[in-house]
Amino acid sequence: MAQLADIGVIGLGVMGAALARNFHSRGLAVTTWNREDDMSQAFAAKYGDARLTVQPTLPDFVRGLEAPRRIILMVTAGRPVDLVLEALAPHLGAEDIVVDGGNTFFRDTVRREEWCRAHGFRFVGMGISGGEEGALKGPAMMPGGDVEAWQRLRPVLEAACAQSDHGPCVDHCGSGGAGHYVKMVHNGIEYADMQIISEIWTLLAGGLGITGKAASDVFAAWNNTELRSYLVEVTALVLAVKDPQTGGPLVDQILDAAGQKGTGRWTVEQGLELGIPLPTLAAAVDARGVSSNLAARKHGSALFGGRPMGALAGLTVDDLRHAFYAARIASYSQGFQLLQAASVAHDFGANLAAVSRIWTAGCILRAALLDRLYEALLRDAKLELLHHDPNLAAALSASLPSLRKTVARAMESGYAIPCLSSALTWLDGLATGRGSAALIQAQRDCFGAHTYKRVDAPDVAVHSLWADMDKIEG
Ligand code: 6PG
Repeated sequence: MAQLADIGVIGLGVMGAALARNFHSRGLAVTTWNREDDMSQAFAAKYGDARLTVQPTLPDFVRGLEAPRRIILMVTAGRPVDLVLEALAPHLGAEDIVVDGGNTFFRDTVRREEWCRAHGFRFVGMGISGGEEGALKGPAMMPGGDVEAWQRLRPVLEAACAQSDHGPCVDHCGSGGAGHYVKMVHNGIEYADMQIISEIWTLLAGGLGITGKAASDVFAAWNNTELRSYLVEVTALVLAVKDPQTGGPLVDQILDAAGQKGTGRWTVEQGLELGIPLPTLAAAVDARGVSSNLAARKHGSALFGGRPMGALAGLTVDDLRHAFYAARIASYSQGFQLLQAASVAHDFGANLAAVSRIWTAGCILRAALLDRLYEALLRDAKLELLHHDPNLAAALSASLPSLRKTVARAMESGYAIPCLSSALTWLDGLATGRGSAALIQAQRDCFGAHTYKRVDAPDVAVHSLWADMDKIEG
């Protein structure tokens, strides 16, 4: 009889296939199943051996696993996950664990955890980040929920995940849907980081005249600075690629309409739900929306003059580097503020130092900044705003003048820089001791008797009859 497998993977798409091969490469016996038979056969022909098998049916797949079983679902988020769980349920026992490794909405994870418990097996929602290469060589993994299940999964996940200077890039993220919530926020920050990079690239080209290979070189050089990160590395790579048809940069031949699958939007929706402002993350989602409306942009360009508007005098490459860093710090600070609030609101009991540690390698966000965030959260795990950490505050203070200069020059010239500008405005708002909301409170009380509080008695709600009161002379 064939050896029983240590772990099973359902779904042999790009990520599932890579993850199955990753487990196999760590010396684990792996069995797999895929709904579409042609994909199974192609996978078996290319990678199959005695310790990496493909099963013809779901019952065969379950029988091929050592009990208690560890099964990872790598299927499209949504209905397909429910369908596989329903099909698996009759074959599983109380100690078997099914892990959903997709980009699932956290409320679906909470619902499925209950459903699986009621149907007699364990369920874990786990975010996985790193793309195909990460899944193959070591992704970052964000499991949540059932702690006993996590303890049993831990050895195989620690063997397969990325390793950073701080250890394996997997840890328990908190109870219930915490794992998928953390992955959702990872993606919200990912949207912002990508948009910030795109804005900086536009300013390098239009404002400073640095294009093509020279732009790639700037990002490559920045990858040896505080900006070191996977997304900067990828940017340097893609900007250097030549279009085989025109001989110019391939990126110049790509339609400038960004796609999205929804995780960034969910993050922003969660911010609205919990009252946590995420302007830079929201600006990134909105920017993808604006980019996709090609017809309106064409019409607008004809009506209001073509943009962007050209050279930006006095701005340097170093200004852009600092502007990028300041905006990056702001977007992480927003994302972690949401995680802090969500941990309380949803009782995750999340360990945010662990979250920042998981992200130090393997995931799309991996960056030098994550080491700084990890250090900050080790100093104070409950820190509400990461940029208030003394070291990060000092780094931000050094970069902020360049962000201000960059935003001012670029906006004056008509560049659309939603992430850079929203980051600056958010930081400025949070650094304003007395802002403009007093007038909003006065207006609300005047037209709707909503009451307000005086600065000299902040606990007492007051209502004034504004029209009847004495007015200031002169
Ligand atoms: C990751 C990525 C991954 C995927 C996003 C892209 O962490 O590995 O975030 O999950 O690239 O889903 O999302 P969009 O298609 O919405 O940009």
